[in-house]
Amino acid sequence: MRLVLAPMEGLTDPLMRDMLTRTAHYDWCVSEFIRVTHLLLPAHVIYRYCPELHTDGKTAAGTPLHVQFLGNDPIALADNAALAASLGAPAIDLNFGCPAKTVNRHRGGAVLLNETELIHQIVAEVRRAVPPDIPVSAKMRLGYEDDLPALDNALAIEAAGASWLTIHARTKTDGYTPPAYWEKIAPVSAALRIPVIANGEIWTVADAQRCQQQSGCEDLMLGRGAVTSPDLADCIRGKPALDWDALLALQLAFIHTPTDNETGLISRYKQWLGMLSQRSEAAAQLWQQVKRLRQRQEVHAILQQARDTAKLYR
Ligand SMILES: Cc1cc2nc3c(=O)[nH]c(=O)nc-3n(C[C@H](O)[C@H](O)[C@H](O)COP(=O)(O)O)c2cc1C
Repeated sequence: MRLVLAPMEGLTDPLMRDMLTRTAHYDWCVSEFIRVTHLLLPAHVIYRYCPELHTDGKTAAGTPLHVQFLGNDPIALADNAALAASLGAPAIDLNFGCPAKTVNRHRGGAVLLNETELIHQIVAEVRRAVPPDIPVSAKMRLGYEDDLPALDNALAIEAAGASWLTIHARTKTDGYTPPAYWEKIAPVSAALRIPVIANGEIWTVADAQRCQQQSGCEDLMLGRGAVTSPDLADCIRGKPALDWDALLALQLAFIHTPTDNETGLISRYKQWLGMLSQRSEAAAQLWQQVKRLRQRQEVHAILQQARDTAKLYR
């Protein structure tokens, strides 16, 4: 079983990837999408999205970072993928799942699921441009309005030379509204020779097991569930859950991550704490105390106090 940390633009930035991959074991993680128009991006833009490329393409915990691109121009995507590979990307991923209106209006992301031939061209050009030892993969939804094109798109991606395919088990029209239709991945993964990674609505160990059964996929990608429960990947592998004190220690470490953007760090932390609140009443109480704070030191004081209180009750 391989477990992958999902790409989430505006959420799993380098800081979050660092923390999440230190906390639980992932086979790899995927960058937020890098949008490509018709131009070759300067290297510094790719490094900004993927600072891990400075450290052998891995997070501090040693988890490989796959670089994800989004666009519709096969040649421009191929050139940018080749650049990322030359900078040390361990693998390239292509986004055919983004539901954002502005992205789709510019013919990027999930809207391409209605253009199977273009999807094939994109994957084939990127595959050709990237050295053979660097895998090229794709991530797609079941379809745009409906799931009818799922199999054709998946077969096109495989025929173009992708090494594996991740399927978020919903259409663009479904957005993020539960449920995820894991069972609709099953016929697609059965028809493909390359591995298929199932994704969508895995919040608990039980969800992971049901997703595996219904999709026929052993490998899973975890998105929001991995942020809400940073120990989820390890729990799926049979390890015990982290207690509240361990989660507090993680939060303290997170707010002390060295950065030249303290404001960005604190707002990312608050976003994360908001998500932790879905899992834990203690996190929800902490959120009430932290939500208006702006300074690292103020947040530190509240977290330290929460840790001292948690110790008293142990
Ligand atoms: C805030 C947010 C940003 C996302 N950004 C990306 C992205 O950059 N690339 C991508 O392929 N998918 C992106 N996704 C989709 C996720 O990778 C994943 O497919 C989706 O959240 C379903 O999995 P989950 O239910 O485990 O969260 C994003 C999802 C969210 C919630």
